[in-house]
Amino acid sequence: MSKQEHGSSTHYAVHWQEEQYYYPGPEFIGQANCTDPEIYQRFSLDKFPECYKEFAELLHWDRYWHTTLDTSDAPFWKWFAGGRLNASYNCVDRHLQKHKNKTAIHFVPELEDEPIEHMTYQELYRRVNETAAVLQEFCGLKAGDRVTLYLPMTPELPVTMLACARLGIIHCQVFAGFSGKACGDRMWDSESDILITMDAYYRGGRLLNHKANADQAVQAAESAGQKVSRVLVWRRFPGRYSSAEPMVENRDYFLDELVKQNKNATIQPVSMPAEDILFLMYTSGSTGRPKGCQHSIGGYLSYVTWMSKYVQDIHPEDVYWCMADIGWITGHSFIVYGPLSLGASTVIYEGVPTYPDAGRCWRIAQELDVNIFHTSPTAVRALRKVGGDEPARYNYHFKHMTSVGEPIEPDVWRWYYEVVGKGRAVIVDTWWQTETGGFLCSTMPAIDPMKPGSAGPGLPGIHPVVYDDEGNELKPGEGKAGNLCIRNPWPGAFQSIWKDRERYIKSYYGKYNRDPQSKDWRDWPYMAGDAAVLESDGYVRILGRIDDVINVSGHRLGTKEIESAALSAEGVAEAAVVAMPDEIKGMVPDLYVSLKPGIDPSHELEKKLISTVADVLGKIARPAHVYIVPDMPKTRSGKIMRRVLASISNRRDIGDVSTLANPEIVEEIRQQVQG
Ligand code: WTA
Repeated sequence: MSKQEHGSSTHYAVHWQEEQYYYPGPEFIGQANCTDPEIYQRFSLDKFPECYKEFAELLHWDRYWHTTLDTSDAPFWKWFAGGRLNASYNCVDRHLQKHKNKTAIHFVPELEDEPIEHMTYQELYRRVNETAAVLQEFCGLKAGDRVTLYLPMTPELPVTMLACARLGIIHCQVFAGFSGKACGDRMWDSESDILITMDAYYRGGRLLNHKANADQAVQAAESAGQKVSRVLVWRRFPGRYSSAEPMVENRDYFLDELVKQNKNATIQPVSMPAEDILFLMYTSGSTGRPKGCQHSIGGYLSYVTWMSKYVQDIHPEDVYWCMADIGWITGHSFIVYGPLSLGASTVIYEGVPTYPDAGRCWRIAQELDVNIFHTSPTAVRALRKVGGDEPARYNYHFKHMTSVGEPIEPDVWRWYYEVVGKGRAVIVDTWWQTETGGFLCSTMPAIDPMKPGSAGPGLPGIHPVVYDDEGNELKPGEGKAGNLCIRNPWPGAFQSIWKDRERYIKSYYGKYNRDPQSKDWRDWPYMAGDAAVLESDGYVRILGRIDDVINVSGHRLGTKEIESAALSAEGVAEAAVVAMPDEIKGMVPDLYVSLKPGIDPSHELEKKLISTVADVLGKIARPAHVYIVPDMPKTRSGKIMRRVLASISNRRDIGDVSTLANPEIVEEIRQQVQG
């Protein structure tokens, strides 16, 4: 598969090939939850799907399932069908008997003079129950209803998620860094008429006015046709409102006050069918419209619990810190559901990793005695840049570290290993997606050697395969890149795209399905949308997305979403977004626009375009560069050739453009961009 074949939509970032192995040390192996290399045999394809019972057995079930995998509505897989359970019970109540005084959540506020909160499981139980009481009694919510959460990184977020889960309410958390408009669009899509938010939170030393964003979300939802009946506002400092926005009468309520009125309320966890929906998580795809990935209660929770135990190697005495945002799948799976289901102590940090200085993360690790650390290559690159020597100044000891969300360059990997991990911690480079619920490819930390730049083999039970565009299997070691697929379904996989079964089938199974009528899972390999090389040792080297998705700092953004945001600015006729590698963020978007007749290019207009994209989508989507060009390079049929623009941004060979409708424009744009 060459770049040409995939045209404009290829954003390969990775060109390295690495064959150096690093081995887990005896100290780690001696204590690890899984050291048995036979585990891969226990999860071989001939044991499928019954092998996954082992995952579900980590949970408390109210009623056991009768069918491990129901394929009758393929490819809409139903795991543990017939079973009943409650996710909130599994993450909270079941730990009370033995661990009620154990810390469930360490909350680290961004400002260092605000004390760290250590919330016990008993305290978490109380807060989840009181919040559930408000949802049930004050809001009248019940199982199956959707509620949108637009919350920052404070304990109120997991408390609210677990309160929803207790009642079987489907939570749809939108990343707090997204714009109000993006949140409103998701409220409309998920048909939520209640928004739960917070007045303010700290980021980079400033108390941000988040209620203003929430008000915009309501406006956007309502102008799209979704009525919003209530906005529940947690206050960052209970009892003190930290926003300048007025509270709207009969719509806005302080949630901390309502909770107080329900002091010590207890709400029975609702026994839910395993296959009901736990939450929706929106992610970007090839079109402008985000996809609401639907995750199940039983399959998802089993999967993330197993992964937390055996891939994250969480033991009861560990202090585990995942620095992702709970607003993304990593935070859902590996800050909240996985660790809490295991009864672990999980850290939530409110702010920026480098605030107020480059030593902040390592001070937190030292103070809380964190021994498992989980973050993204973007954060590792930023931490290295601002304070390459800082970790050595602090007295913390990690046994285990995770890299997630983007490919990690071998050089960055080595700094992570040697300096952050002090040469002692194992690293798992976990490849997965919003859709997959939990990890798919990674080394098993005490069994497999690590190889910088490669995610590792398929985890036990996950059977990766790489196909070329014709559906031929590319063998390990062949050195060819193709489409990364998984041969079999797994319990953590999303069930569907909310209200869009067609798009689910088409996006993930359309290309390689062998028979649309088939009820046999073997006919439905899952296509991830990433290009990869399967190496001779069976490790998977991820090259990047093959669709119109850019991974900016580990945040997934659709180029089409950015383009349509740019098109909403006055005077813009056409917009095209391409990906550019960035030293810290991995990838960043470059925006090309052409203007309507009579509109002149100006620096002001460029600035306006950047702020429009930030307003529509959020700051993370801001283009790195804006180029106002006289015309777009186009095919004879009028299609914008994004591939040509990508080559110009990336200073690559542009190739043959003689077949374009307007080949002369290419050189003009090249000069404008490259000088
Ligand atoms: C990319 C984040 C290389 C990949 C959990 C995938 C990775 C997309 C890795 C999903 C990794 C994730 N190495 N690339 N270890 N992990 N990706 O849905 O392109 O936000 O398809 O889920 O991130 O991003 P998402």
